[in-house]
Amino acid sequence: MAYRILLVDDDPVLLKTLGLAFHRAGYEVVVALDGPDALRKAEEKPPDLIILDIMLPGMDGFEVCRRLRQMSGIEHVPIIMLSALGRVEDKLTGFAAGADDYLVKPVTPQEMLTRVQVLLTRSARWMEVKRHAQSYILAFIGVKGGVGTTTLAVNVALIAARNGQRTVLIDLHPEGGLAAVQMGQVPRATLEDLVQHPADSIDEKLLEKHLLPHRTGLRILPAPLMPQKTSNGVSPQHVQAILSQLTQRANRVIVDLPALLSPMTWAALQHADRIALVTEADSIAIGAARRWLELLEAEGIVRSIVYVVAINRIGGTTPYTKLQLEEMLGCEVAALIAHAPEQCLLANKNGAPVALQKRDTVLEQQLRELTKTLL
Ligand SMILES: Nc1ncnc2c1ncn2[C@@H]1O[C@H](COP(=O)(O)OP(=O)(O)O)[C@@H](O)[C@H]1O
Ligand SMILES: [Mg+2]
Repeated sequence: MAYRILLVDDDPVLLKTLGLAFHRAGYEVVVALDGPDALRKAEEKPPDLIILDIMLPGMDGFEVCRRLRQMSGIEHVPIIMLSALGRVEDKLTGFAAGADDYLVKPVTPQEMLTRVQVLLTRSARWMEVKRHAQSYILAFIGVKGGVGTTTLAVNVALIAARNGQRTVLIDLHPEGGLAAVQMGQVPRATLEDLVQHPADSIDEKLLEKHLLPHRTGLRILPAPLMPQKTSNGVSPQHVQAILSQLTQRANRVIVDLPALLSPMTWAALQHADRIALVTEADSIAIGAARRWLELLEAEGIVRSIVYVVAINRIGGTTPYTKLQLEEMLGCEVAALIAHAPEQCLLANKNGAPVALQKRDTVLEQQLRELTKTLL
């Protein structure tokens, strides 16, 4: 995806020459002629970098810069100040207002491009570091049972662990869950045993006893394999306690949820940084996905954290394309996962999920790609 640059200047000649140079270099350019216009455009859709003139009509560039720095989503966007004012005091005022770089006019497009590249590379690296250091909760929920939700959660968790992330997978199915079985593991202690303890007594030591290690480094909090007659379910307080303990220890916490909106799933969804809403690639399931999206939105879940993942689980000779699914759904589909029944069958038979098969198949590539998108 092309980087978006917001170019703020009241000089039409400069806007044209710089705009053209950026455009040729493959950047997307948005221009603004004054401060209020720049603030509006930055808020609408945060750019990847901002070039800001100082002498603007009305609000000057220093003030625009200060205000940009206070806007959420813009805090870390690189800002280059561009001005005819070349005195040291002006530069210092610019840096104090939050600029990352300061160029004095006239500036050649070549020099500008070089500075932009340097700053974008640095900010991309910084975002990457931040992403890896922070703990992050990713919840998987199906629009109905049997669409392939657990398969995705298990594979994404394994790929994250193999990439060196400290990853934990929670199989939040008190009524019976099969994530551990998909990995060829036999759970001893399970979620059900853990929630016998009061929520406020769940600490590191207790949790540790219930986590099942996998050779990739992934750890699983497994569900019981069957519904338990004596089960009282998992309370929202338990979900909260488990998540808050795990996010202190792991930087990737992946939760496999049942396809229902109980207090338990709701607690997990509310804590999630990102939600993968999994659906089958057929018209009925897509209809269900639409209703789920509405429901989540009505419940106050921010739309931008929900990623729809469609799986062509059923196959057939005329599968829907991603575009067709998006038209039916009325929004973007983050990934369309290929029909791969043999591979799934083999994975289940061997207790070795697709991500561990190392055959470099379409499905495996798609799962790697999906992990990148979601984490
Ligand atoms: N891409 C796929 N192609 C074909 N079958 C799939 C695919 N992904 C998953 N499956 C199969 O679909 C079934 C349901 O998967 P599962 O992950 O248990 O779904 P859920 O968690 O939504 O109930 C399993 O038999 C699984 O092997
Ligand atoms: Mg499942």
